Amino acid sequence: MSGGLVIAVDGPAASGKGTIAMGLGKAYRLPVLDTGLLYRAVGVLGKRAGADLDDAEACAAAAATLTADQLGDPALRTREAGELASRVAVHPQVRAALLAFQRAFAGQPRGAVLDGRDIGTVIWPEAPAKLYITATPEVRAERRWKQLKAQGEAVTLDEILEDIRRRDARDGGRDAAPMRPAADAVLLDTSEMTIEQAADAARRIVEAARARWERS
Ligand code: CDP
Repeated sequence: MSGGLVIAVDGPAASGKGTIAMGLGKAYRLPVLDTGLLYRAVGVLGKRAGADLDDAEACAAAAATLTADQLGDPALRTREAGELASRVAVHPQVRAALLAFQRAFAGQPRGAVLDGRDIGTVIWPEAPAKLYITATPEVRAERRWKQLKAQGEAVTLDEILEDIRRRDARDGGRDAAPMRPAADAVLLDTSEMTIEQAADAARRIVEAARARWERS
């Protein structure tokens, strides 16, 4: 056993990984980083600055100016921000610009919980606990639709399902850190679970991983 308890929570859009990560952070009293917010911020700030989001260098320049206090902006939670995020996330230069911040967060002495797409594969491959959260596209679309409606966005369930499918294809198909489970990640399908059930299941997985890690 060395370093802190880093818990990697990866998975596709609206799989429940954010809620699960927050629950784990509370249970283990660890800081939590939603790494999707970093990509969302690059997309939103880049667009605001008039950058061409297909231009890797322009997006990387936006990433380099990012500060932690910009991550609370509610504009990052919109449907559009999710789409912009997945567009800028294909650029290796953007991913490289965000790496040091994520690694520093994960390297805190007691550990940390990070949720994203590549935490267990790229950001902290040595994490003692790795989860890969999934659910069917239909279930994820319904969850995201309810969330966006509650935020006041006018959007149909079909449009969200289309978004989710497009994002899965882009996130899983890119060359730079594609979304995929690490070889040693535990898969958790939350399609048939309530939030509480998913959070409980995640805690049990982490508990087992932690016990193994403490013996190592
Ligand atoms: O909340 P949701 O699952 O919709 O998305 P998110 O976690 O906020 O991430 C938004 C987008 O950022 C994803 O579709 C990915 O393209 C990208 N992302 C990434 O590439 N790597 C990460 N570690 C986190 C997010």
